[in-house]
Amino acid sequence: TPAGDLATQILHALDKNSPLLSSAAFPTIPSPDVKGALDRLASRDMVKYETIDREEAILEPEGEQIAANGSHEARVFEALRTAVEGLTIQELEKAIGDKNVVKIGQGRAFREKWISKTQDGKFRVAKDSIKDTTQEQMQTIQSTKSYPDPKMLADLKKRKLVRTHKIISFNIHKGEKFALQIPEVATDLTADMIASGSWRSATFKGYNFKALGADQHPGALHPLNKVRSELRQIFFEMGFQEMPTDKFVESGFWNFDTLFVPQQHPARDMQDTFYVSDPKEADMPRGEDSSDTADYKTYWDNVKDVHQEGKYGSIGYRYPWSGEESRKLVLRTHTTAISANMLYKLAQQKGPDGRPPPARYFSIDRVFRNESVDATHLAEFHQVEGVIADYDLTLGGLMEFMDIFFGKMGITDLKYKCAYNPYTEPSMEIFSYHKGLGKLVEIGNSGMFRAEMLESMGLPKDMRVFGWGLSLERPTMIKYGISNIRELLGHKVDLNFMRNSPAVRLDKE
Ligand code: PHE
Repeated sequence: TPAGDLATQILHALDKNSPLLSSAAFPTIPSPDVKGALDRLASRDMVKYETIDREEAILEPEGEQIAANGSHEARVFEALRTAVEGLTIQELEKAIGDKNVVKIGQGRAFREKWISKTQDGKFRVAKDSIKDTTQEQMQTIQSTKSYPDPKMLADLKKRKLVRTHKIISFNIHKGEKFALQIPEVATDLTADMIASGSWRSATFKGYNFKALGADQHPGALHPLNKVRSELRQIFFEMGFQEMPTDKFVESGFWNFDTLFVPQQHPARDMQDTFYVSDPKEADMPRGEDSSDTADYKTYWDNVKDVHQEGKYGSIGYRYPWSGEESRKLVLRTHTTAISANMLYKLAQQKGPDGRPPPARYFSIDRVFRNESVDATHLAEFHQVEGVIADYDLTLGGLMEFMDIFFGKMGITDLKYKCAYNPYTEPSMEIFSYHKGLGKLVEIGNSGMFRAEMLESMGLPKDMRVFGWGLSLERPTMIKYGISNIRELLGHKVDLNFMRNSPAVRLDKE
């Protein structure tokens, strides 16, 4: 039925009979169609309606059978009632003509104490008469499509005698503008209508102020980017310069050797680090353009000497250092490779007093580790890295700085634990109490860069450098309440979460 026809049919039915129950007046028309027609009429105030949801109960084939012939147990009782001598099981099956009815029926009849078994093994009735409640229930459901006792109905459903389904119907009343014809409605007031005066008698379609605007899906910042931009803001307001982190590939020299990670260190194993297969090797370290006059060769030799023999007060690792190993290309395992490069460049600068000026550097970018991937680890993550170079810095100064830095993220009451990094001494892991987890969690790694690392770059002895690093993922997951890293990165990410995740204020809970 086209919707227009149905709407007119409804008006005519309502004219004879108001209020009108749709399930009674239009039993064969699907309720979404009825609703469509009603909404059209209701928007013109021609009808009003309420929706009525109800469950309708319907007999299963076995239920139908019971309604017609009685329950299995009643049929067994009935067959035995007329047999004065009692019946054997075979005779009973013959009398009823359905083995299944006998099998289920005799069991139930026993439980009801309607029948008993004599010593000769025959079944006999144990009562004069019975009341077949199940049959009555089936008949009630058959005629009313419902059952007054919901618990009993659920029980009958479990016994597979009855099923229920949802029926939506509408109780329809005449509206203020009820009529038998649907008036034409105008959506626009036209010049013609004004000229002819027809606007006076026209019916205008009402505005639907409840209509929602269409969803717009412009690009959205990834939650990691939102946290990243907050952290950048913190660094900038504390006077940091951003380091260039656009090269994911580094040489072993900058990623490891300048940081005094010995060439046998497990971190340099293929199991932990991704090596580039083509090309395999970097050129000798050099500047990016001709304006860079730094003496990379001297630096290279200094690094080699510290590893091999020791220098600048260090006894070295005392192994034959390999230039080839140092030139191997790797996906950077930490952004400290860039910090080393930046500090080397700082050593070449001259401030007003002819010495390298104090500097504050930071970066937030991707690093790679050959890890087995699980709920909390990916083979790549983002590292937040900071470096402060100044004269006569102390470890106490580092701790004070951390209080201020993490305080700006709303993280307070820091705890420190001695740790080891080949490039810092002392080194400290930074912990904070996590209220949700009820324990201290590691939030970062830090330390004072080693003298032999800084002096081999040419930095003055009294220039000290703090460094620290943390992952960007950890605070992001805590902020957004995510426990599985794969909800944040990779192919399982829910795009709606990306679109709808709120902006972050790190200092606000
Ligand atoms: N590179 C360290 C890491 O990957 C972080 C760090 C940077 C530690 C600078 C000390 C100094 O965890």
